[in-house]
Amino acid sequence: MMQTVNVEPGSPSDTDDFLPINGTDYIEFYVGNAKQAAYFYKHAFGFRIEAYRGLETGSTDVVSYLLRQDKIRFVFTSALRPDTGSGRIVSEHVRKHGDGIRDIALWVDDAAGSHQETVARGARSVVAPTTVEDDHGRVVLASIATYGDTIHTFVERSDYSGPFLPGFVAVSEGEDIARPIGLKYVDHCVGNVDLGDMNKFVSFYADVLGFKQLVSFDDKDISTEYTALMSKVMSNGNERIKFPINEPAAGKKRSQIEEYLDFYGGPGVQHVAMATDDIIETVSAMRARGIDFLTVPGTYYDELVGRVGTIDEPIDELRRLGILVDRDDEGYLLQIFSKPVQDRPTVFYEIIQRRGARSFGKGNFKALFEAIEREQERRGTL
Ligand code: FE2
Repeated sequence: MMQTVNVEPGSPSDTDDFLPINGTDYIEFYVGNAKQAAYFYKHAFGFRIEAYRGLETGSTDVVSYLLRQDKIRFVFTSALRPDTGSGRIVSEHVRKHGDGIRDIALWVDDAAGSHQETVARGARSVVAPTTVEDDHGRVVLASIATYGDTIHTFVERSDYSGPFLPGFVAVSEGEDIARPIGLKYVDHCVGNVDLGDMNKFVSFYADVLGFKQLVSFDDKDISTEYTALMSKVMSNGNERIKFPINEPAAGKKRSQIEEYLDFYGGPGVQHVAMATDDIIETVSAMRARGIDFLTVPGTYYDELVGRVGTIDEPIDELRRLGILVDRDDEGYLLQIFSKPVQDRPTVFYEIIQRRGARSFGKGNFKALFEAIEREQERRGTL
């Protein structure tokens, strides 16, 4: 069953939005070795290292690298010491989850107000509103909990002109080193939650953050012979923030969501989708730099034009790169999914190019799930 709620940016419902969000501020990963993670994202994904904090800057518990490509900011943080200050939180997160996403930070005009409104509606506070300052000005930060050990930090930075946040120093590296590949902004971030918890988190985003449900599909839409999942997409008023929430559904064998929950040690971010204006160029560059993607059988492309109609991109190029296509009422989209980017079969990436479509590629789920099951079979986790 599919249901679409259209909320145009600037529509009247925006005016009573108690949680106006300008966009994704940053996504922070807690990892075992931030220096090497930064190298990987710089060389394989074309991010540029723009800021740093660590022993040299007076940060004695944790080290962080800020990487940016266009509007996308990723922060990679590792513990310098396992048992002191915030080093303890980072090392415990990595012990339990492996490398993973701790924080999907939201850019707001009023961090204290966002914290107050959401906590009043039932959010669990993780960090009370805190003002941090340096020579470049001041930033207000406040955090609330979402699924698993994942948090949302509200970031208010209108009075700040530094490279990222107070405590970070600028790192100057040329584009010749970073070689960007056309990644522009975070399109959506998907969370995996425990069996039976999807609606709990749908209600959390609706009641506590004022989000709306965009599209829902049940396990009849998304199933293969063996595995199934259920998913609902939550979005804020201006649709800049989109959070699909997945839960496993009963199948003959272990679903990809259960595999994730098992190896991640509970709920967490499954994938981040990053938008490009030229998916052929972006994926060509990523493949050339060694990123592995899920592949679908050649028959997918034999049937493609029959399924989605005429598209601008050459089918043989899409076939060569393994890029998928889906169409909805408003247009079409092109997308591809990486294999997990760490040894645990947990976090992966989607690269997406929207040609009018605002949906998420439901028509590709069957082909994709079969591709994921082939990978699970190889891991012995199906
Ligand atoms: Fe996605």
